[in-house]
Amino acid sequence: MLNRGTRSKAWLAPQKCPVMVQVMFLVSVIVALMLFFHKTDENPIPVNGLRNQKWNRFESLVQFNSEREFRNGTDLIWQIPDSPKAVLFLAHGCSGRAVNFWDRSSKCPECVGLPEERLITLHALARKYAVLTISSAGKCWTFGKERLIVEDIIRWWVKRQKLHKLPLVALGASSGGYFVSALANDLKFSSITLMIAEGIFDQMDIIEGYPPTLFVHMPKDVHRQQKITEFMEDLRNKVVDVSEIECMEFPLSPTYLSDRIPGLDQIVSSRLFNLFKEKGFVDENGYMKRDGRATRWREALRESNIPLLKKELEHPVQEELNLAFAYHEMTSLQSEQIFNWFESHMT
Ligand SMILES: *[C@@H]1O[C@H](CO)[C@@H](O)[C@H](O)[C@H]1NC(C)=O
Repeated sequence: MLNRGTRSKAWLAPQKCPVMVQVMFLVSVIVALMLFFHKTDENPIPVNGLRNQKWNRFESLVQFNSEREFRNGTDLIWQIPDSPKAVLFLAHGCSGRAVNFWDRSSKCPECVGLPEERLITLHALARKYAVLTISSAGKCWTFGKERLIVEDIIRWWVKRQKLHKLPLVALGASSGGYFVSALANDLKFSSITLMIAEGIFDQMDIIEGYPPTLFVHMPKDVHRQQKITEFMEDLRNKVVDVSEIECMEFPLSPTYLSDRIPGLDQIVSSRLFNLFKEKGFVDENGYMKRDGRATRWREALRESNIPLLKKELEHPVQEELNLAFAYHEMTSLQSEQIFNWFESHMT
């Protein structure tokens, strides 16, 4: 400390001033440039980031090879990479199922791999997480008996796979987010991510040592955003580590759908994009005008007499349109940040 003090005083000596001015100018130019590039780099969602977020980006890194088992009236699907470093429990939203997180494979012929779900799973596997998914008994998750059953299943599965020494984390979207916020009061997670969900913090007393909580949300859903802001404040007051990632809308492009959906080729993708423009579903800059669910794109497609889209690709297209509108949808675009965050809370 002392040394540095004396050195900086020497640095300030009058005869060195002209040099210092030049150096400082150079430094500020470099800092400005760094800030500029850092900023464009760090904001991964619009346009720039999408380009390297293709559906097949993990092709050379990980293959789907999931296992499936039925227990307590539900199904579990999982995959464990070599030398796993943590366990991730993934909870789907209403109408979701475990099969949505996995591409079809020999041991899971029923798996359907929805675009965002499958990319979250691939991210996790590539980063050496053992991934466990479970289906809700009904359409959405419930908080009575089902909660206890799922907690039991997770404990039992982790033990059977001999993964109990690893950190356990969870990510739940929408209904799955509420569910994970409740599980975190009973199971020992090192941290959790609640996606497009504020949690049920107004309906439970959280335990001491409640895990660090990351909210990944879409601020266009103003009502939810307000609740998240409120709950983050409450959690901070209870000394829970909280953080948030805001997911913003972005424009469609002619290759958006083929970039993100396996089995949808570029020709179909750009013809759909043109159709959406023609029909006024997207504005002149390519942004969705309404949520995908509220856009009559299926009808428009049928009326257009171009037999473009395989039936099984309709759900994936719907999901990607919702994602671009950024009101309420599962998103894998922030996976990098989410897993970094998990890993910064693993001690
Ligand atoms: C879940 O299934 C296992 C194995 O069949 C059984 O031993 C256990 O009691 C069940 N748990 C509940 C809560 O029903």
